[in-house]
Parts: sequence; structure tokens; C-alpha cells
Amino acid sequence: MAIIYNQETGEFHLYNDGISYIMKILRNGQMGQLYFGKKVPAEQSYSYLEEHTKRSTLSEVYENQYGFSLEQIRQEYPSYGTTDYRLPAVEIAQENGSRITNFTYVSHRIYAGKPGLPGLPATYVEKDQEADTLEILLRDELIGVEMTLLYTIFTEENAVARSVKFRNYKNEKLQIETAMSLSLDLPDADYDWIQFSGAWSRERHVKERRLQQGVQSVGSLRGASSHIHNPFVVLKRPTADEFQGEVMGFSLVYSGNFLAQAEVDTFNVTRMMLGIHPQEFSWCLKPGEEFQTPEAVLVYSDRGLNGMSQTFHRLYRTRLARGEWRDKVRPILINNWEATYFDFTEEKLLEIAQTAKEDGVELFVLDDGWFSTRRNDTSGLGDWWENRDLLPEGIKGLSEKIEALGMKFGLWFELEMVNKDSELYRKHPDWILAAPGRSQSHGRTQYVLDFSRKEVVDAIYNMTEKVLSGAKVSYIKWDMNRYITECYSAAYPAEQQGEIFHRYILGVYDLYERLIQAFPHILFESCASGGGRFDAGMLYYAPQAWTSDDSDAAERLKIQYGTSFSYPVSSMGAHVSVTPNHQLARMTPLKFRGDVAAFGAFGYELDLSRLSETERRRVREQIAFVKKYRELIQHGTFFRLSSPFQGNITAWMVVSEDKKQAIVAIYKVLNDVNCEFRRMRLHGLGDGMLYHIREDGQDRGAHYGAELMRAGLVSSDASASEVQVKDNPGDFYSRIFILEAE
Ligand code: DGJ
Repeated sequence: MAIIYNQETGEFHLYNDGISYIMKILRNGQMGQLYFGKKVPAEQSYSYLEEHTKRSTLSEVYENQYGFSLEQIRQEYPSYGTTDYRLPAVEIAQENGSRITNFTYVSHRIYAGKPGLPGLPATYVEKDQEADTLEILLRDELIGVEMTLLYTIFTEENAVARSVKFRNYKNEKLQIETAMSLSLDLPDADYDWIQFSGAWSRERHVKERRLQQGVQSVGSLRGASSHIHNPFVVLKRPTADEFQGEVMGFSLVYSGNFLAQAEVDTFNVTRMMLGIHPQEFSWCLKPGEEFQTPEAVLVYSDRGLNGMSQTFHRLYRTRLARGEWRDKVRPILINNWEATYFDFTEEKLLEIAQTAKEDGVELFVLDDGWFSTRRNDTSGLGDWWENRDLLPEGIKGLSEKIEALGMKFGLWFELEMVNKDSELYRKHPDWILAAPGRSQSHGRTQYVLDFSRKEVVDAIYNMTEKVLSGAKVSYIKWDMNRYITECYSAAYPAEQQGEIFHRYILGVYDLYERLIQAFPHILFESCASGGGRFDAGMLYYAPQAWTSDDSDAAERLKIQYGTSFSYPVSSMGAHVSVTPNHQLARMTPLKFRGDVAAFGAFGYELDLSRLSETERRRVREQIAFVKKYRELIQHGTFFRLSSPFQGNITAWMVVSEDKKQAIVAIYKVLNDVNCEFRRMRLHGLGDGMLYHIREDGQDRGAHYGAELMRAGLVSSDASASEVQVKDNPGDFYSRIFILEAE
């Protein structure tokens, strides 16, 4: 068992071969944090790490005694007041108006395995030996609330999953106002904070800054994890980099409003917190009821950022994603959105599919515009039945025709939304989230259905089920194209309105769960105007996500690079689209576009019949390449080598588990001339293994892993000279090297 409880000292030590997480029951009965990081040996006691001393201006817990002040004690799940002035992990408003709480240790339970979280996404184990779990029960007797802190340490991964459960066991009516999933007090503040932020079509750019005294945070109050910030942040030692040094990753397995925060206090303690954003949140904890927070996953690496990412990739690909598609390579798809937008006929769709089939594409996806009156974005959402004028034999007929071509068929839905111009809205105008007496903001002329209400989710489920059960649908793209602006439900009393954001997401999860249970063969891809809900919560239901609406390959380098810090290659939908690109009007070579998209769940978003014969040949080559290597690319160990945020050259590579195969991709965005000779130092290879290197079918020699990792792969190109037009690589130059060991 990898969790030890020392009865004498009241200390808990969770450990595996890589990490230790140590805490103790403090003198006042609350939980104190002692250590999290690289594994330390099992000691009799670590209580020396609990430091407190007498200082002027400290408020004291005990009369006539000095030094025991929570302001200077590192805690496990702190509350505000009672001598701690920092932002709290928990806040509960009581009937008498007080928010002071005091949760003290009652008992604990240690067991093999990991429990699921009802109604919520969470990492899981397949066998009990894969993890050990500690549940610490604390109680606030005065208000009658039990709080269970849940910790799971994975046996093979340097990761700890945490969440918290509350239960009201007395008669008071309470409002939980803050309930973070994770709080961790670290003993110093010598960290760089990395966040993954941006905007629509510019998601998850890497932004880094040194921690400072005070509060630094990112979050979302948009009802979705959002394009703006991702529910994932990193603390790294300033000396750490991609390949070495200490790094901690904090990931929330949740898709709604969130807060990720680091508060560096007056004594340079860093309090990290992650959970549902307390703003716009409260939960009415009625007598006898429970509240479970979402899960947060904490990863430690002493092998730099790549080490951290590789842990997240393995864990999220194999123990968060579920279902039949989890371990399968992803089909190469063609999506009609950028090819036609709303302007399509069945004939046109079949033509796109037919051409794509000839080139080797495996799945045809029909995007927005196939249902009800939907011929533009002003009507039809909410009415999930096919437009028979457009598709005379319905989705069933079209899907059969696509299958007859030898392809699988996929379909777009946006189940959480409604247009006012729809039968659903006309029948149920109160089914949208809207504040009484106030105007309703729209986004893309659409309104958000009140998924906190079961009858709404039921109605949408029934319509969707009807479309799917008759037809041959193998894939669903689940879109969500606006944020929530007036979060109010007509179905709940005033005191429960603070629950609606969370209940909404629980409704989304419920609908997902029902659909994946009813249609286990379907591959789900989540989408929210591109990457507006690319988070760990979604991966539990949909093993892949549309990474961004920005399909320009140069921009995608940054987006996919940033996304790769916590999400696996297999989860990133990545398509080749036309030039000039629809988002940036940029021209890039087809090879460059293909070489970027190949490092994701690969597909096309254009009408292949419009390409020249030479381009079609290139497409066939790309498809053949992806088919041959997707197992390695999607399931191999991924290393970031060179960052698009730091220069003109981006590079990454994947290595197979046995190290016998690797693929290195190097992308140069803008051309240069008379420049330096270049080498790319590789990682993860076998020192003594001899790798035969090929680029575009050309032999590039053979070198030992030790050479390629130390001296580097020579990647100078013709621009390191006075290049002639004929062999000038030009802008947007990409190179793929295949390494195969004997
Ligand atoms: C936004 C998505 O990100 C696009 O790919 C496309 O599906 C449109 N919505 C359709 O409305």
C-alpha cells in the first residue's frame, strides 16, 4: 500500500516510486501540508517541516500561547479567518450569517483503487493495483457539516488526483460559497507560473511570468472553460526547462467556470488553488444533502516540462478518456464546413465524400446546416430532425450512401443551444437561461438551453436518439458556440440560482453520458467554436476535441504546441484546409499544412475535387503517411523540442515505447538566408541504438541515438548559403524525419 498513516505523529505519507505527498493532523485538528515533490524516504516523522514561530502582529489560536497561527502554517484545505487571512479553499455561509468554519479530523480510510465521482468526469483505474486512495473525514460539529478530502495516488504515474465532498448531517440550511478542488501550500515562491491563454482562434498560447507576492490567477466566468484561459497551469522552477528541472502541473477535470490561482503570502508561501470559480457560485447544502467538487490532478516532474506533459498524456489518454475509441487510432476525416459552410446539397456532399474516398479518407463529417430550417445561423437550433428538402432520404439515407462509398459517416450537433426561430423555442420559451425581466444577450443569434433542468436534457436526448438510432452514424462533432451571459433558471428558487452554472455543466455531462452509453460505437469530438472547451472534463466523454477554428498551419503550430502541455496528440483535432486560409488569408504550402495537422487527429476541411492533380498526389501521400505512422504519432511519447513562442523554428518528435521508431518534425515559419548551420538535439532515443534516417523517402544516413541526442540531428537547409531559387525552401518550410532502429 502506497499510503502510510503514522498514528503517533498523525502524519499521512502518500508515495510511489517518483513522488511523496505528506500531510499531518495539526494540533487544532485541522489538516496541515508538509511536503509535495520528488519521493523522500519513509521517515519516522516529518513534523519538523511544520514550522511556526512567535512573530509580532500574528493572531493566535490559543490563549497565552504564541506561534500557532494559521497565517504561518501551511494547510491542506484552508478556510478564511481564525488567524488565516489568505484566500480560502472553502467558505460556507451559515443561517446566522457567519462564514467561520472549523473542520477537524475525525477519521480516515485507505484503500486500493479509485472511486468514481457521481455525475462528474474523473480519472479512473482498471485494476485496484493502479492506485491507492485516502479519504480523510473532517467535521465541523457546530454547523453539522462533514467534509471528506479525497486523494488518489497513481502507482505508475507521478500524479495525485484530489477532490472534496461535503455533507450536511444536521438541520441547518447552508450555502457553500467556495469549494475548491485542490489547495496546496508550497513552502516557497521560487516559481515561474505558466498559463495557456489567448482568444478564439488563438487558444492556449504559452504565457509565462515569475511568481510575485500577491495573487495571480486565471479563470473563466463564461460558463465554459473558454478560449481565453485553460483550466490548467504550471509552476516550474526558474532553472527548469522542457527537459530538466522541477515542474508541477495543475489540471482541473471540469468544463465550466474555473479559477486557478497562486497567492504568494507575506512569508513567501505559495498557495495554489484550483476549482470552480467562487464568483457566481454558491450551493445550497440542505440537510442530508451532499456536494462533490470536480477533480483536480496534480502532476510532479523532475524531468522538466516534457516529463510533466508525458505524464498527463498517458494518464489522460488511457485513464481519463474512455470507451471503444480510447486506444484506437483515429480515422482520417473530411469535414464539409470550410468547404461549403451552409451552402451545400446532398449531391455536393456526396461529391466531396467520393473524392475524399478516392484519396484514402475514412470518415465523412457533415457539419452545421443539415437540420430543420437551418440554412444560416439564425434559425433551427433546437429542432434536431433532418431537412428533407436538403436530404430527401434523411440522415439515414445519406449515411447509407456514404457507407456505400466505403466510408464512415459523422454528424454535427449543437445540442445545448436554441435559436428563437425554432419550434423548440416557440413551444418552450422558458427553457433558455434568462434573468427575469431582463433582456437576453445572444451570441450568433442563439440562446443557451437551461441544461440544469432534467426535462430539457431529456427532450434533447430524445430528439438526438431518434436521429442516431435509425442511421449509420460513427462520429459526432458536438459543438457549442456561445458563452452564458444571464445565468438564471426559471426552474429554481432564488437561493439556488448560484448553482445554475454548475448544474448546467452537470446537465451537459449527463447528456454526454447517456449518449455514449446508448451509442458506444460513436467517436465523439467536442468543439466549442473551436477550442473554447478543450479541457480534461470533456476528454472523459469525447476523446478528441476540435483544437481551434484557426486552421492556418503557422498559427496551429502555436496552438498545438500550447495544447500539448497537458493534452495528448490523439486528442487534438487537426485538419488541412485551403489557402488562402479562411482565418488569416495566408498562403502556406500543402506539405506544411499536412505536416502540422499530422500531429493530431488528422483530417481535411476542404473540397479535394478543387485541388490540382499534383496537390491530390500530395494529399494521397499525406494520407498514406498518417495511416502508416498514426499509431506512433497518436500513442507514442511526445517531446516538444523547439518553441514557436521563442523563435522561428518549431520542432517536436514522437518516440515509440520500445524506442525503435521515432518521427521528428521541424517547421520553419519564415525563410532566412545565409544563416547558421542548424542541429536539433533529439530526446527519448536509445543511446546505443543505430537509427536509419529518412526524409521524404530520401536516405539521410544512420546515427546512434547518443549522437542524435548529444550532437543533434543535422537540420541545416539550403538557406545556410546563397540559395538559388530552385532549391530555396521558402517560407513555411517543414521537414519530417523518420528514424528507424535496426
Ligand atoms: C464552430 C465550429 O468550431 C466550426 O468548426 C463549425 O462546426 C461551426 N461552428 C458550425 O456552425
